[in-house]
Amino acid sequence: MAAKVAKKLKKKYSQLRVYKFPDGELYVRFMKNIRDKVVVLVQSFYGDINDCLIEVIFAAETAKELGAEKVVLVAPYFPYLRQDKRFNPGECVSIKIVAELIDSAFNEIFIIDPHLHRQTTLSHLFKIKSAKLTANSCIASYIRKNIKNPIIIGPDWESYKWAGKVAHVINCGSYILKKKRYSGRKVKVTLNEKVKKTEFDGKSIVLIDDIISTGNTLIEAIKILKKLGAERFYCIAVHGIFVESALKRLREVNAEVVTTNTIPNKLARIDVSELIANEIK
Ligand code: R5P
Repeated sequence: MAAKVAKKLKKKYSQLRVYKFPDGELYVRFMKNIRDKVVVLVQSFYGDINDCLIEVIFAAETAKELGAEKVVLVAPYFPYLRQDKRFNPGECVSIKIVAELIDSAFNEIFIIDPHLHRQTTLSHLFKIKSAKLTANSCIASYIRKNIKNPIIIGPDWESYKWAGKVAHVINCGSYILKKKRYSGRKVKVTLNEKVKKTEFDGKSIVLIDDIISTGNTLIEAIKILKKLGAERFYCIAVHGIFVESALKRLREVNAEVVTTNTIPNKLARIDVSELIANEIK
């Protein structure tokens, strides 16, 4: 993503040298002179997100120490945003601590479709300049080009920000379902009474959400839609995390899955590099 964005902006791209010592400690090195430069670090936080976090903090602090004029974090995907509340006594409100680390290391942060739930804007979380970008226009163009006669479904009320908005842009019908989360893996999705079988006749059903992690949210939504007779489904997400054979299980319920490339994966067919380049310009 960093190389793509740099190319679009006709700016220099350099890869950080990063490796792990045998005991797990991280080594980070800038391979170009960054004195007096604006350094834009692109970190997509996938794989071991905690290593990613340390890596980007090490890099930002080093950039400042080496005389960078400004250090910007572009996070196509940013983790820990779902842990924004003490749900049970004694729990760590992780996002608060992560945000403090980012505030002290960076001058600015851009995030694509952050999962903002109880906090409605990034400025509630970060003290530094922040901007929230959305891949909705990229998803809308993908649907326009590739899916005939869509009807869009959001699996829970929060998904309105993607499903509802994309449906509005492409001017098609949409429904938002209800979800109750019992744990990190267990959710129950129920139909809104207004959804009727006939609404789906001749339509391509497109479920849109911000994140696919275990896939359980979309799988449960699909199971409930199947009861109305629907058979094939498109699932589109901004961030494809795909843990614990999510993809295999989504395919088993006849879902064709596509994501943006905020997190690299083989189904990342919707490119958001232009979105990032336009923001950095
Ligand atoms: C949370 O509410 C998000 O919008 C997603 O619905 C959720 O993170 C998806 O997670 P999973 O794929 O594990 O159900």
